[in-house]
Amino acid sequence: MSDRSRTDHPRTHYFDRRRSTAYDRRARRSLGGLYRRVAADVAALAPPDAVVLDVGTGPGQLPREIAARRADVVLGGVDLSADMVDIATAAVGDLASRITFQVADVAALPQPDDSVDLVVSTLSMHEWPDRRRAVAELGRVLRPGGVLLVYDFRFARFEPEAFTGFADVRRVPVRPGWWPVALFSRVVASAR
Ligand SMILES: C[S@@+](CC[C@H](N)C(=O)[O-])C[C@H]1O[C@@H](n2cnc3c(N)ncnc32)[C@H](O)[C@@H]1O
Repeated sequence: MSDRSRTDHPRTHYFDRRRSTAYDRRARRSLGGLYRRVAADVAALAPPDAVVLDVGTGPGQLPREIAARRADVVLGGVDLSADMVDIATAAVGDLASRITFQVADVAALPQPDDSVDLVVSTLSMHEWPDRRRAVAELGRVLRPGGVLLVYDFRFARFEPEAFTGFADVRRVPVRPGWWPVALFSRVVASAR
């Protein structure tokens, strides 16, 4: 756990218990299609027995979707909000041996260097105050050749220069399930 994340980050207190609970409820209602689409992408790209990290995991619905599709992978979820992490941990149920949640800032992750095979993140990057530093941190924890998948709102600010430490960087629109328009985008890249 990163102590820094609990203290000096500008958004540490934004997702408090009330907002986190409300977000979980809304996300269960409206984001299932996105989680299923992202989980399918992760399941297709993660190597056998992969270590997968979900950054800004929120209430942890995505790691549960991924675990349901790939019995061989081990998952971590990190979030700046201790309340989100509490909700994610309480919901993990029988998957507790395969999914671990921690409070941490994307810019100061507790994972060792080169320890993760695939990093995924949904609807969180637009909240990171220093995306260049955050993405460099994702590159630190990914092993060389590891996969980065960052999904966010399509119209959120995108800074390609944040990804200079990665190879084969591509950004494409994503329209999951029944959504009438491509509201989301996906950045896919490979760690050097
Ligand atoms: C809109 S929610 C998305 C949650 C989840 N990924 C989903 O798709 O439902 C954004 C999440 O990013 C987290 N977050 C924001 N800034 C962060 C940071 N610097 N480090 C880690 N998590 C962060 C928030 O606490 C929040 O849980």
